[in-house]
Amino acid sequence: MALHSLFPTRVYSAVLQRGNWRALNSRLLQECLQLRRDDAAGRSWSIDNYPGGYTSYASVSRMQQFSPTFALLERRLARHVRLLAATLQFDLTDRQLSMTDCWVNIMGPQAVHGLHLHPLATLSGTYYVQTPRGSPGLKFEDPRLDRYMAAPPRQPLAAIDNRPWVVLPAEAGRVLLFESWLRHEVAAHPTPARGSAAARSRPPAERVSISFNYGWF
Ligand code: NI
Repeated sequence: MALHSLFPTRVYSAVLQRGNWRALNSRLLQECLQLRRDDAAGRSWSIDNYPGGYTSYASVSRMQQFSPTFALLERRLARHVRLLAATLQFDLTDRQLSMTDCWVNIMGPQAVHGLHLHPLATLSGTYYVQTPRGSPGLKFEDPRLDRYMAAPPRQPLAAIDNRPWVVLPAEAGRVLLFESWLRHEVAAHPTPARGSAAARSRPPAERVSISFNYGWF
């Protein structure tokens, strides 16, 4: 008897680097916040398209070319991208995967990032800079969901590879990588409970991440 697992969907998760990622994240956080202050076009775009949050997706989307700190992040990501590409057995003869886009996402209370994929990219991912307690993870959707037809729902405690949705935690210092066709979303960033220390703090803790695309062409 043989039971094959065909057409698997790979999602890569790893700590970016051994040692002191906090120093890198501190610099990245400062630059993310500074970018939001400087990027009037991005703030305006986010009001309409990213309520409660800020993203430079539509305004400053090649941070690796403008900031030495983001360029350092790109170099630190390279090993992880190579590992995923090797796992997927991509034939990259005479080609290489290179970072095409890199942008900032800052989620305030109730900010949501709806279901989407990353068109025109090969591999995509996110690096987590600041993830206050309660930050939502990254929710992935089974790419075959529209073909389930008469498939029964899965058992509540079904194995992770049998579930139609899987949420991987957002943890500062960690990188997630996946193929760009895989749909994903981020649920609402929670509002701190009334009366809690977090609610009294100003400004409220924000979830800060850096997303990026790689292409091979
Ligand atoms: Ni995304």
